[in-house]
Amino acid sequence: MGAIPWGFESPLRHSYPRQRGPICNQDRENMKKKGRVAVLLSGRGSNFEAIYQSSLKQDTNFEIVAVISDKKEARGLKRAEEFNLNAFHISPKEFKPRDVYEKKILEILEAHRVDLVCLAGYMRIVGDTLLSAYGGRVINIHPALLPAFPGLHAQQQALDHGVKVSGCTVHFVDAGVDTGPIILQKAVEVKEGDSEEDLSRRILTGEHRLYSKAITLFFKNRLKINGRKVIISP
Ligand code: GRF
Repeated sequence: MGAIPWGFESPLRHSYPRQRGPICNQDRENMKKKGRVAVLLSGRGSNFEAIYQSSLKQDTNFEIVAVISDKKEARGLKRAEEFNLNAFHISPKEFKPRDVYEKKILEILEAHRVDLVCLAGYMRIVGDTLLSAYGGRVINIHPALLPAFPGLHAQQQALDHGVKVSGCTVHFVDAGVDTGPIILQKAVEVKEGDSEEDLSRRILTGEHRLYSKAITLFFKNRLKINGRKVIISP
């Protein structure tokens, strides 16, 4: 497991005894520091942009320190460059097999002292190399109310199934596909005659709000994983 940076621990570790005592100057200094986020994406990057906009707000507790894409032509990567963020394209074709590719990503994460990895439309399964270094510190957003409709085309799956309510989910990432412990969910009504595009657009609006909320909670150290459950402390 990689070194845990200064203030933010994996929620998986919260059950370990933690040092208590008076708040010293170093603690105060740490409290002011922002959580360091890396966004991994493959395409449009609207969630990345929403996270970025929210990171610019006053009193926000996180900042984006790296954006990594497996696709050179990803719109999200171009936007990251336009925002003058540290933007990287890592090609899975160039770095093979997957653990070599993920080691390359890990180098970037460690060089930028990343605390939390946010998958935002990242179209690859996260492997052992990343998960063992960043266990409990990788989160994802999915456009359905998990555990319903995991995987691709979640909105179309919801329409095909005839559900009346769908939505989005932010969850911790584990070795499965959209199976990790759920942090936050937002329900969205499915309307009569909705096309995949209609429903996707409405869910996406919810996604853009939900993701930053989850990141904020993470960096307030308010998330604790207990088996399948994520306990959100008050
Ligand atoms: C979103 O619907 C997200 O839930 C899913 O992929 C889509 C990415 O959209 N994982 P964007 O690239 O953030 O615009």
